[in-house]
Amino acid sequence: TVTGWPHVYTPGEADAPVLLMLHGTGGNEHEIASLAAELHPGAGVLAPRGQVQEHGMLRWFRRHGEGVFDVDDVIARAADLADFLTAAREHYSLAGRPVVAVGFSNGANIALATAMLHPKAVGQVVAFSGMYPLGDREGAADLVGSRFLILNGETDPMAPLTSVNTLITALRQHGANAEQILRPGGHGIAQTDLAAAKEWLA
Ligand code: MLT
Repeated sequence: TVTGWPHVYTPGEADAPVLLMLHGTGGNEHEIASLAAELHPGAGVLAPRGQVQEHGMLRWFRRHGEGVFDVDDVIARAADLADFLTAAREHYSLAGRPVVAVGFSNGANIALATAMLHPKAVGQVVAFSGMYPLGDREGAADLVGSRFLILNGETDPMAPLTSVNTLITALRQHGANAEQILRPGGHGIAQTDLAAAKEWLA
């Protein structure tokens, strides 16, 4: 349910999109919510808290090691997030407002998994430093109409380019509109990434 899941919500302007802000490992809903105003002034903000803990750090799904995901847990948590979003749309009367998932790192990975498995719940994603989240599994057959902006550093050991390329190929094979932005450097959100996301969201 919406009320049982800690989250930040601010309505923003009625004609602006709602940004579903998804924090990285060790972050939280408040920290990532504050990024929304930089991406789209006036946007509504919905920022739930990752429901998994790893040594006290909040995350979105379990992993066996760095970059080695528990794919069954990814799939289960993506379903939970899709359900949360559907409930929140109703609870906050968001029908008619576009919702865009914006995630960083582990938050990008759950955003991608949710959009690949539940395209009707999440049809637009901005993924900062994300990678292919489904291991050896495939996502939804049909992503026609879904839009993705995939931003990565070229030398990011936590989101290796081979995985990012698998992601882009899979999204396009399933009919999604996937735009890729690669910049020099590693894991993180660069100023150029913010500028590109802002333009893509406008
Ligand atoms: C993940 O676990 O989703 C990635 O390795 C990124 C992170 O460390 O959060």
